[in-house]
Amino acid sequence: MRMPEDGPPTKKFKYTLSHHNNGNNGYVPEKILQEKRNLPIFPARGKIINQIQRLDTAILIGETGSGKTTQIPQYLLEANVNKNAIIAVTQPRRVAAITISQRVAEEQGTELGQKVGYCVRFEDVTSENTKIKYMTDGMLLREAILDPLMKRYSIVILDEAHERTIHTDVLFGVVKQAQARRKVRGIRPLKILVMSATMDVDHFSAYFNAAPVLYLEGRQYPVQVYYVSQYTFSSIVTLFQIHRAEPPNNDILMFLTGQEEIESAVRTIRDITRTAEENMAPLVVCPLYAALPSHAQLKVFKPTPKGCRKVIVATNIAETSVTIQGIKFVVDSGVVKAKVFNPNSGLDLLKVVKVSKAQALQRTGRAGRESAGSCYRLYTEQEFTQFSDNTIPEIQRCNLSSVVLQLLALGISDIVNFDFMDKPSAESIIAAVHQLHNLGAVIKENTIKLTPVGRQMAAFPLEPRLGKTLLIAKENNCLEEILTIVSLLSVDSVLVTPQSKREEALAARQKFVSSEGDHVMLLNIYKAYKAVKGNKDWCMENFINQRNMKTATEVRKQLYDICERMEFPIKSCKNDTTIIRKCLAHGFFMNAAELQKDGSEYTSLSSRKTVSIHPSSVLFRCKPAYVIYNELVQTTKCYMRDLCVVDPDWLYEAAPVYFKKKKPGT
Ligand code: CDP
Ligand code: MG
Repeated sequence: MRMPEDGPPTKKFKYTLSHHNNGNNGYVPEKILQEKRNLPIFPARGKIINQIQRLDTAILIGETGSGKTTQIPQYLLEANVNKNAIIAVTQPRRVAAITISQRVAEEQGTELGQKVGYCVRFEDVTSENTKIKYMTDGMLLREAILDPLMKRYSIVILDEAHERTIHTDVLFGVVKQAQARRKVRGIRPLKILVMSATMDVDHFSAYFNAAPVLYLEGRQYPVQVYYVSQYTFSSIVTLFQIHRAEPPNNDILMFLTGQEEIESAVRTIRDITRTAEENMAPLVVCPLYAALPSHAQLKVFKPTPKGCRKVIVATNIAETSVTIQGIKFVVDSGVVKAKVFNPNSGLDLLKVVKVSKAQALQRTGRAGRESAGSCYRLYTEQEFTQFSDNTIPEIQRCNLSSVVLQLLALGISDIVNFDFMDKPSAESIIAAVHQLHNLGAVIKENTIKLTPVGRQMAAFPLEPRLGKTLLIAKENNCLEEILTIVSLLSVDSVLVTPQSKREEALAARQKFVSSEGDHVMLLNIYKAYKAVKGNKDWCMENFINQRNMKTATEVRKQLYDICERMEFPIKSCKNDTTIIRKCLAHGFFMNAAELQKDGSEYTSLSSRKTVSIHPSSVLFRCKPAYVIYNELVQTTKCYMRDLCVVDPDWLYEAAPVYFKKKKPGT
């Protein structure tokens, strides 16, 4: 990329509609310009530009909704602080990257993918004209594998830093290292800007070599907090109490934990409104969670019609990532779905946990952005005092095998001494290296090194076990089928099972069901879906989520392209499901379980923990002797989800050393 030799423009910057040097030829409606000028951040524009111009690294704190994510990249671009190179803005969530880039493209009067674009896993909407690139933290990390100095970027903005996702945490170190190396080599400097609505400022500043902290004046009106009594009210009861008592057009934001819970709450709310008394104001109910496609998410941002009330039922995505106007009431369940990893048992669990105090405060704050508001906490004050102060960074509670694989691919082999802001425990690093070793991805000599297999695994944006399964499938000439299965496992469930039509859904699904497990059923569904060319009515009749199916098809295409680039022969095993299950056993032997002697439950082979078949599995009423599973979910019991029947010999074959103490099936 060509870089001008001259310094940044020194003339005082005036906010104007368009900047011809940036190729902005679009029209921006006055309404949007007015909205931009009304943002709390706007008066600080000149000062921010000046300071960032001077600094290598800065930390910027400002309330949610002040305009950090949408405005700062534009300010920097308009003042050419980026010196014509790309400004990367990372987001922990794909939804945020997509919706925000759409808004910013609109504010710049350009088409999305031109001057403003986004890049998320399996989707890249950028072009050579792109100067502001919103991307997930995972994508920037992936790019760094190919270019550790991040030469395409002159500014990297690490947004939502307080979320401390595993990828953001690793990026902190990778970006810091790129900045230092570029300095040593005399390559164009890399500016780092760390942004958040809330964070432990001293900790961040100390990590980034005493970087200065810029505080933005925000707007925050008082929020009245109500706790429920000891008897927990349901979120929906609380919602209708507010709705009956309060005038319309004061919208409600409700925090629940995940897609399934949210969709079911949305249905219940809609059902109740349909049968409600006539004098009740109409409700517009919008779900909001990461997996929701962007067009559905946009509904959340639409202004509420007069005389109506909008209810947004969201995951913690609405805590800080996306800003929604008009919120007057917050209903906080006090829980969040989180990944938890136990390095001793090697168990990786998805479970619902209590939020931290910091999260609860953020949620509360959402009710006071435009005027005074109220927050209904569905927990007692006593419970609140027992929440931890801050959310534990993901890197200290997750399985690190993906991250370790990526760090190794980045050429960082001394993982224990990597410059983490908060180090993961030695146990979890060792557990990750063990896992990768079991998969044949690393060898342990003096240092830990990637094997050729490990390098190939790192080329796929997939969790190591899935990556390994693809490589095994290549050897066994069934990439066509495994690509399909892996893609379907990478998206949200394609099965729709409404409570009210449960029997009907299960009956429709009967024709895809396989006694070999969920993976084979998914494959059957995909084949049938392709045979009808993704027909919408067919999806409805068969209770298949067409949207998730389309996403899976796109994911498959991307993975297919990577396979082609790596010159893998893409062959089909036709209907040989045995070979397919064998490949899965070879990738997932660490997620295997055997039926207990009394035939009641299963024992996981890795940790000897009691696990059960999830009721959603086709194997729910079956008792195969050995299964592998895709993930564990902890609710009332520890459930295995997405199962496949396997032969114990395959497990042993896949990893004789791993099973040396006890051969499965003996
Ligand atoms: O990052 P921060 O929370 O400081 O604010 P932001 O995401 O930049 O949002 C600033 C304002 O932009 C919000 O208050 C919304 O009014 C608007 N916005 C929007 O209209 N549509 C979006 N997709 C995102 C933001
Ligand atoms: Mg933001």
